[in-house]
Amino acid sequence: MENIQDTKLNQIIKYDEDYFMPVFGKRVPLVADHGKGVYLYGTDGKKYMDMIGGIAVNTLGHNNSKLVKAISSQAKKVIHCCNYYYNEPQALLAKKLCEISFADKVFFANSGAEANEGAIKLARGYWSKKGTPKPKIITAKMSFHGRTLATVAATGQEKFSAPFAPVMPGFEYVEYNDFEALKNACDATTGAVMLELVQGESGVHPADFEYVQNVRKFCKENNILMIVDEVQTGVGRTGTFFAYEQYGIIPDIATLAKGLAGGVPIGAVLATDMATTGFGPGDHGSTFGGNPLACAAGLAVVEEIESKNLLGNVRKVSEFLFKKLNAVAKKTNKISDVRGKGALIGIELTSDSSAEVKMKLFNKGFLVSSIGSNVIRIAPPLIISKSEAGKFVTALQDVLEGKE
Ligand SMILES: Cc1ncc(COP(=O)(O)O)c(C=O)c1O
Repeated sequence: MENIQDTKLNQIIKYDEDYFMPVFGKRVPLVADHGKGVYLYGTDGKKYMDMIGGIAVNTLGHNNSKLVKAISSQAKKVIHCCNYYYNEPQALLAKKLCEISFADKVFFANSGAEANEGAIKLARGYWSKKGTPKPKIITAKMSFHGRTLATVAATGQEKFSAPFAPVMPGFEYVEYNDFEALKNACDATTGAVMLELVQGESGVHPADFEYVQNVRKFCKENNILMIVDEVQTGVGRTGTFFAYEQYGIIPDIATLAKGLAGGVPIGAVLATDMATTGFGPGDHGSTFGGNPLACAAGLAVVEEIESKNLLGNVRKVSEFLFKKLNAVAKKTNKISDVRGKGALIGIELTSDSSAEVKMKLFNKGFLVSSIGSNVIRIAPPLIISKSEAGKFVTALQDVLEGKE
């Protein structure tokens, strides 16, 4: 007989099937109820270690007291105030992001795709305002920049844009980590290059150090803006606040979203004063972007990362995870590659079984994502401890060894 929790779970799943557009297909049968730290609990009372962190969003884990306090005290003051007026959290978060980055100016949006839309507009605006329009933007094959019409056009994977043709023109795609290909694709109409420093959505592929250095130098020498999409890699995910810091470069424009407000929707475009000349009054905007609630959450996240030395924690746990996962690879012969940076790791399996492994881990109480047919991606909260990470590695080894 079904117990009352199972009945509730099935009812929610049925509502989803009946009323929600089927864009997510059949989901994992977990109805999130509440969380604490790295754990998420279902309405059925089951406990899961959240090794995917809302896809690199739950930076501070679940129910972080500083974040909850920042959101609730801001909610008591003012949740929304339109951009006709100033608000303190917006000004403070903009200041903070500029202080810890290359940027001179920030614009706030509500998601990664929107932040990238802003970056694309800014780059095009920059060149047209200079009187030398250069609309072409080079992006990488297998990249992912979002689901809006401009960002599916920027994304170097046709499956995301083809059904929604006509696709926005002005993008050219080149092989990732191939500097010659990028160089050859650039011409007098190229205004920007836009890259992820780890391609997260297509299987966790980090950019080569030399490649990024060469691209930066080439862009500078040829009057091309360099945009880095740090929607997934930003906010400490790779062990530095921004992944570009590990490549020894300074971009002209960068975008953030996902982890910036720990789960409250936000996006940000960061730019130098020079690139910012692409936008003047009336050129861009957003009703919700920079809203006091989201920015108060963003400030709490950045402050927690600093005060708890979460960057140090990511580096420490990352080293541990890479060592342990490589040991599992050796022991089981079921893993062909472990790659990524910091707390963004792709575990490539030797067989096309990532969907199955994901479900087996779920049944053992661990949440991960499966990319394509053979990659398990983890992006846990930055607060994860070595002992928690160790439990995940043991569970993965058990699954790969058939101990269910
Ligand atoms: C690198 C990158 N850019 C952009 C996006 C789109 O972000 P959002 O889903 O918040 O629109 C994603 C989402 O996965 C991403 O990984």
